[in-house]
Amino acid sequence: MHRKIILDVDTGIDDSLAVLYLLASPEAEILGIAATAGNVPAAQVAANTLAVLDLAQAPPIEVALGAAEPLAIPLRTTEDTHGPQGLGYAELPPSPRTLSERSAAQLWVELVRAHPGEVTGLCTGPLTNLALALRLEPELPRLLDRLVIMGGAFNHPGNTTPTNEWNIHVDPEAAEEVFDAFSAAPPHRRPLVCALDITETIEMRPEHLIALGQAAGSTPSETVGAGDPPEWRSAASDPIIRYLTDAVRFYFDFHHQYDLGYLAHMHDPFAAAVALDPALALTRPATVDVELTGTLTRATTVADWAGMWGREPNADIVIGTDPAVFFDRLVTRVGALARRLSQELPA
Ligand code: RIB
Ligand code: CA
Repeated sequence: MHRKIILDVDTGIDDSLAVLYLLASPEAEILGIAATAGNVPAAQVAANTLAVLDLAQAPPIEVALGAAEPLAIPLRTTEDTHGPQGLGYAELPPSPRTLSERSAAQLWVELVRAHPGEVTGLCTGPLTNLALALRLEPELPRLLDRLVIMGGAFNHPGNTTPTNEWNIHVDPEAAEEVFDAFSAAPPHRRPLVCALDITETIEMRPEHLIALGQAAGSTPSETVGAGDPPEWRSAASDPIIRYLTDAVRFYFDFHHQYDLGYLAHMHDPFAAAVALDPALALTRPATVDVELTGTLTRATTVADWAGMWGREPNADIVIGTDPAVFFDRLVTRVGALARRLSQELPA
């Protein structure tokens, strides 16, 4: 099914895989991309996103710069998780593409007004710019066809504090405004929420990189491991495989450093796959709100599954999926994109 997508990212290693997944999916039409401050500052997010579009030889796609800071608190970034540029050990050349004249919030508002009822919004970073868009256009929840959010943690530990998840942690006020705004959305337009509960079951491992390389026809086949020195870089013949190997290996090292295993949770590309095919996800409705004043629990997403608050559900939380189906699609689609681009390269 053809899907018009507004993508809101904080590129970021896994955000870049979400971008590549969408570009590799024929049913996806990216109308525009909002660059939101999070993993790295907004300007770096925008530069990274443009560079990934170049890597994938994407057609012109509007990328709009988001707010420099969250709604109410200073920006916190996480270069230790995503690397100095935000793309792990990979370094992509600066893109000649130019940023949109309009802001990320204006991009959201003007695109949903231009395509009422047709657009799927996909947020894989903090919700700052979506919240700003909602302030400009309160009708946005009814103008969107669907919203998919990567964020939050419910019956699952946080990854930034014991209870909160990074995207919400960066801008909890924005998240609270977004979930509140969608309280009025009809059931079929409730946000699909891919929280850590499900995204931490999406465990990318070195064998997935090998499979991607094989699908792309890239040589040599490279097996990365925890003992590789930080300065090692991929010698893969295919540029997308070379990028993915250097980017994801940083993520492997980060997860390994925190005793999570030599793996990487693929939060954002999973959310992208759900945005294109909600049937991938088993969901359960709940009323979601965000703690803003808790000393220990600020930025924690809370799900009222049983209607104890007496408020209608405002979210469909993903509670089940088959990670193998996702990885099969990721490898097949991104591998085919890489192979296609290599075959089109001038000899
Ligand atoms: O908590 C995981 C999320 O935070 C992912 O979107 C990752 O890219 C970071 O933004
Ligand atoms: Ca992200």
